[in-house]
Amino acid sequence: MNRTWSLLPLYLCLLHWGISTLFSRSKPYPPPLPSQSCVLITGCSSGIGKSAALHLVSKGYYVFAGVRSLNDAKMLTREFEEIKDMDEHTSEDGIIFPVMLDVTREDNIDEAYEEVEHLCGEGRNLVALINNAGMQQITPMEYVPLDAMKFAFDVNVFAPVALVQKFLPMLKKSGSARRIINIGSASSFLTPPFYGVYASTKVALETINDALRVELNQFNVSVSLLQPGSTSTEIEGKMLAQAKAIIEDDSQIDYAPRMFRMSHALEWLSGYPPLAHLLFTDVKYTTQAIVDALESERPKTKYIVGWDAEVFKFAVFLPDRIVDWVLGFL
Ligand SMILES: NC(=O)c1ccc[n+]([C@@H]2O[C@H](COP(=O)([O-])OP(=O)(O)OC[C@H]3O[C@@H](n4cnc5c(N)ncnc54)[C@H](OP(=O)(O)O)[C@@H]3O)[C@@H](O)[C@H]2O)c1
Repeated sequence: MNRTWSLLPLYLCLLHWGISTLFSRSKPYPPPLPSQSCVLITGCSSGIGKSAALHLVSKGYYVFAGVRSLNDAKMLTREFEEIKDMDEHTSEDGIIFPVMLDVTREDNIDEAYEEVEHLCGEGRNLVALINNAGMQQITPMEYVPLDAMKFAFDVNVFAPVALVQKFLPMLKKSGSARRIINIGSASSFLTPPFYGVYASTKVALETINDALRVELNQFNVSVSLLQPGSTSTEIEGKMLAQAKAIIEDDSQIDYAPRMFRMSHALEWLSGYPPLAHLLFTDVKYTTQAIVDALESERPKTKYIVGWDAEVFKFAVFLPDRIVDWVLGFL
């Protein structure tokens, strides 16, 4: 009897997993034909967005890739040409259209809309909006300037909503697939110290994603959320630069030792390729998840990418005090 009760959390986890697996793939959506499809991805200058954009254009999609500088636009076009030269399996149909898109700027969103409408062309439909652009903000809650926090919400939360509102009518006109793919984060399961601002934006995005999913079901628009753990992209360097600024800021001196310890450990681990390889998931896995969310007849509602994301997800079932105790070692 005692043994049965002690295994109850395990049974509940298995039940939760079984039910979600069964129902998360329940509704069939018509998959797109790359040669007849356009996709818009935000934040393609690096990392997850760039990897997904280059992969999808290689498969034959017209990819509208959001960037914020002319250099990044040229870099994307050049890299696609290099891939075409090196890989004979690259489809001849795909074209990459870099679009200037700062997601916080309404005028940029309007211009991007016009470009997609104009260039997607006859015989092709916009089949997916991939809200990838995002920023991390590493800071103690006590000192975060509220303007900086509002800006993080502008980029990670309000911009994806603005893009959905703008592009949804165009997506709904698509005869075949209609997909919205949002890039959340595993930090919405568990918030490490100094990740409060970032994690709160990703929790908000998850909630918005869930609302959209049930609201758009009736229009046959599939909405999926990726929740990656630590992924090998440029975001880590940006985060270390923020940590350094805080360590050097005398007004935040009381948090400096912990921030130093955490950023130093991260830097040290990522300096050793075998460890870095273990710690950071390769972007090919986020790209795989994006492709599944885009092309599967039964996309998952959530894609948890990376072993650490699975661990974070499990932490949701633990009592807060146990999680606090573990995070206390950071
Ligand atoms: N890497 C991870 O460990 C991880 C884990 C979970 C979730 N994510 C999420 O994955 C997404 C992509 O991040 P990543 O890891 O690929 O990082 P990344 O390499 O730093 O890429 C972030 C992209 O977002 C763009 N961006 C930032 N602010 C923007 C704005 N206002 N308007 C338009 N684009 C903007 C950046 O453009 P610029 O180059 O012009 O700044 C860049 O292209 C983000 O939403 C992030 O939160 C990442």
